[in-house]
Amino acid sequence: MTQIAYLNGRYVPRAQARVRAEDRGFLFGDGVYEVIPVHAGKLIAADRHFERLGRSLGELRIAWPMKRAALEVVTREVVARNGVQQGGVYIQVTRGVAPRDHKFPKDVAPGLFIAAKRTKPLSAALLRDGAPVITVPDQRWGRCDIKSLNLLPNVLAKQAAAEQGAHEAWLVDEDGNITEGSSTSAWIVTRDGVLATRPNGNEILPGVTRAIVVDMVRDLGLKFELRPFSLEEARQAREAFITSTNNYVLPITRIDGRPVGDGKPGPTAQRLRTAYLQATGRSA
Ligand code: PDD
Repeated sequence: MTQIAYLNGRYVPRAQARVRAEDRGFLFGDGVYEVIPVHAGKLIAADRHFERLGRSLGELRIAWPMKRAALEVVTREVVARNGVQQGGVYIQVTRGVAPRDHKFPKDVAPGLFIAAKRTKPLSAALLRDGAPVITVPDQRWGRCDIKSLNLLPNVLAKQAAAEQGAHEAWLVDEDGNITEGSSTSAWIVTRDGVLATRPNGNEILPGVTRAIVVDMVRDLGLKFELRPFSLEEARQAREAFITSTNNYVLPITRIDGRPVGDGKPGPTAQRLRTAYLQATGRSA
């Protein structure tokens, strides 16, 4: 089946979705994106993702490429036309096409690209054994709360993880605290059994999965603190895990090769994974 993308007003075969070389997304990384999970052909937590897209656009003063309601319709249509049941849909908005000049161009229509993809469930071994992470210095800019296209430090971090046989790279700031993963939010359960994840701010992306899990943690009445935690504290932690659109809730069992807790997926992470799958209508 030919994959269909939506590009600047038209549904096109994905292989023919070509942008102009002077698109500012290409020249400057001047744009933003979203990835929304798809389960049973439906978007999960769509409202929260479109909210965040609106926020990212607003922070960069890029206009919505079409009314939000219309964008939601087109996004669902791309998922439907590709017959994606399980996976995700990618939405990218750039400032548009203009001769290269750093300043914002005037009267330029934003560029819009939407594509859907199927994803395989995480491997049984990863779920059984938990995932290893490495740590690398956080080399990103000062507005990581904007889901911008500038992902070079994230790309380099994820590549380093892959080359070392790890699933993710955790980014460490100048104070020795973990900010987040290269494409995931980071959590620990401390030695005293308290859940901790960094509060939203300019240093991290406000993860949608993270926000859903924060609500769950509160509903379940678990001990929880929104605060930064250090690499050292993570090494001593009872449990660690990540949350994201692609991983849902995934236990972390090794940090830089050393076991976390007893080196097995922890009960809190497993409980939250099950709760997340139930809440979003997935079967565990
Ligand atoms: N990444 N932190 C970063 C830096 C991210 O890029 C992401 C998502 C997350 C988790 O956010 P959410 O729960 O909303 O997926 C945290 C997407 C999936 C990506 O870049 O592909």
